[in-house]
Amino acid sequence: MDKNAVTIALPKGRLLPECTRLFSLVGLRPAEDLDSSRKLLIPSEEGSARFLVVRDKDLPTYVDYGAADLGVVGRDVLMEAGRDLLEPLDLGFGRCRIVVAGLASRGGRMDPGGWGHTRVATKYPSITARHFAARGQQVEIIPLYGSIELAPVVGLADRIVDLVSTGETLRQNNLVELEQVAEVTARLVVNRASLKIKADRLVPLIEALRGAVGAASASQSEGRAR
Ligand code: PRP
Repeated sequence: MDKNAVTIALPKGRLLPECTRLFSLVGLRPAEDLDSSRKLLIPSEEGSARFLVVRDKDLPTYVDYGAADLGVVGRDVLMEAGRDLLEPLDLGFGRCRIVVAGLASRGGRMDPGGWGHTRVATKYPSITARHFAARGQQVEIIPLYGSIELAPVVGLADRIVDLVSTGETLRQNNLVELEQVAEVTARLVVNRASLKIKADRLVPLIEALRGAVGAASASQSEGRAR
């Protein structure tokens, strides 16, 4: 293993296959399958990099402290973490949105004036607090770790702030989108100090990734034009 190896943090879960594909396109193939291996630190085949596979919420911490030089993570996780990372590339995959949603039976758009005491369930307490504070709306935030859509259905909360991809989870639980908070895609994040110390390795790698992302989006637009 090269002692100046670049350390790349990738998130467990649904972004992992796209991440693996992207790094393979720039010549960095993990020596073992990242998804099925129980190892959490895996070198690249040619030894110039190593991959860490971590929980997405932990990923900004690894990059911020320089335990990883760079990583890939959803914009939702970055917004929630609020860490000072370089974000040189929108990778274009993992596209979804953060929205405010509520029960369809209550219908209608939100009326800021009519909110007495509103409870909002979410796995994004910071994003939610900022969103409503920016509108001057006081809400009680109920932090949850998953199955957020259940909260309004069982009366735990009036609203949720959560990710929507296809919209199927909202539909199946009789919820409707009320407001968009942010658009989300996977982002490349880089540690500020690493970019200076390992510039000779990181700058070409970031440019190669930029090229691979550009080529992928060009071929997608070509596909759509046909
Ligand atoms: C995410 C999100 C929604 C769902 C949206 O949940 O929190 O529940 O996906 O996808 P859809 O619009 O395509 O239905 P995830 O699967 O990550 O589980 P979680 O709710 O337990 O976090």
